[in-house]
Amino acid sequence: MTDTGGAGLFLSFEGIDGAGKSSHIEALAEALRGAGRRVVLTREPGGTPLAERLRELALHEAMDPLTEALLMFAARRDHLATVIEPALARGDVVLCDRFTDATFAYQGGGRGFDLGVLGQLERWVQSVQALPAGRLRQPDLTLWFDLAPEVAAQRLAAARVPDRFEAQPLEFFRRVAAGYAQRQAGDPGRFARIEADQPREAVRAQALAAVQARGWLA
Ligand code: TMP
Repeated sequence: MTDTGGAGLFLSFEGIDGAGKSSHIEALAEALRGAGRRVVLTREPGGTPLAERLRELALHEAMDPLTEALLMFAARRDHLATVIEPALARGDVVLCDRFTDATFAYQGGGRGFDLGVLGQLERWVQSVQALPAGRLRQPDLTLWFDLAPEVAAQRLAAARVPDRFEAQPLEFFRRVAAGYAQRQAGDPGRFARIEADQPREAVRAQALAAVQARGWLA
């Protein structure tokens, strides 16, 4: 069993808009519940009343890149303190639709915001009481749904009214995708790359297999 600074498990789900990750989170939750685990399903930005209000602002109001990055991390701090850390301390499995890799990919890659500043914010926000000084709360596993930006854009165009991020041009999502790849290269053991261009059942099987490979599902 991985040392998680508590008995729980923290899994995050990442990918560019349109990669299709959200539909697989519920399936994984059911599999984990079937294995007797208590599961907390949550998302970022959001997951608490305050963070959901910050999400509305971040997704719909114009702002400069530092303000945007600060809002993401402010929402994250509240989410960690009031939902994620208590759940991990209880021994629950936390399934989180996006976490800090999204900030590095979107604000860092997409917007071109300073990665050093994002790293500083990451250290402040993800230092938590349950872990020794110097260790940050990070997901135990990140499922990265990797899909070509061109394909994701086609899926999105058919799907919904876009928010500030979904409305960005293809070139923005190319940079976001590169941001995810860079994050994975920096911490490859934490990531499982899911080939999200496959049929839905095959993508679901890859997601389950990644969790099984860690010994967290039979
Ligand atoms: P969602 O549509 O997957 O819920 O994500 C909301 C949007 O917020 C999505 O376009 C990605 C963006 N986002 C960031 O730009 N930075 C972040 O740190 C997070 C968590 C999300």
